[in-house]
Amino acid sequence: MKLTIFAATGGIGRQLLEQAVEAGHDVTAVVRTPQKLPGELSRQVRVIAADLAAPNPAVLQTAVEGADAVLSGLGPRSNSEAGVATEGTRAITAAMKAAGVRRIVVVSAAPIGTVPSPGRPDPPKHDPGDGFFIRYLGAPLTKAALRRHYADLAQMEDVLADSDLDWTAVRPPRLTDKPLTGSYRTARGRNLRRGLFISRANVAHFMLRALEHPETVRQAMGIAS
Ligand SMILES: NC(=O)c1ccc[n+]([C@@H]2O[C@H](COP(=O)([O-])OP(=O)(O)OC[C@H]3O[C@@H](n4cnc5c(N)ncnc54)[C@H](OP(=O)(O)O)[C@@H]3O)[C@@H](O)[C@H]2O)c1
Repeated sequence: MKLTIFAATGGIGRQLLEQAVEAGHDVTAVVRTPQKLPGELSRQVRVIAADLAAPNPAVLQTAVEGADAVLSGLGPRSNSEAGVATEGTRAITAAMKAAGVRRIVVVSAAPIGTVPSPGRPDPPKHDPGDGFFIRYLGAPLTKAALRRHYADLAQMEDVLADSDLDWTAVRPPRLTDKPLTGSYRTARGRNLRRGLFISRANVAHFMLRALEHPETVRQAMGIAS
């Protein structure tokens, strides 16, 4: 496939890039700092520089033109960068519409199903997949600590839901740097019971796999080891 990968220098983004190249896909990597890509990898893909906090529509349209699908590992590096997932994804989806590209898979986070946003002001109080510990201890604590970050991801999901694109938002719990196993659980529209962790490598694996699974279209997908 012809794939455009946004934020290919991040934890998940780098995994997306390596796994996509390994699988023989024709890859365009869109990154804010091209020097962060190792030389050998950057020689195997087309690299486009783009700061998604100040997106240039023409550059983004060039980056997605002719792609079969777009994958994004974009997320704020810190609370002060919160907002970039929403605005960056808005710019990416606008470029996709302009270029006639329909499929996009992005990274969100496990608590987002219960985070209010302008597009979903009254989400369910609890995710049906979360057990007692996550509902009453884990989720309230992380939501308090990462309030701005989660608001950004919830609004990013609004951007996708408001588009007529074929989107999938993957909602991982805590990310680890454990190796790729290809062995993990997924669920449509809910989290996984006792699903506390997942490796970045396995999230990337599932994002690529989702491209072959139409039942993931217009869905938020829970994932956990
Ligand atoms: N950490 C967790 O446990 C956890 C759990 C659930 C969900 N998540 C979500 O998953 C996302 C991905 O995780 P990760 O570990 O792969 O994150 P990460 O390593 O922090 O990667 C974030 C990516 O976004 C890029 N980015 C940020 N601002 C940008 C901008 N203005 N323009 C262009 N690119 C920009 C970064 O580029 P640079 O390399 O140039 O900085 C980097 O490639 C997180 O951001 C978070 O929203 C995280």
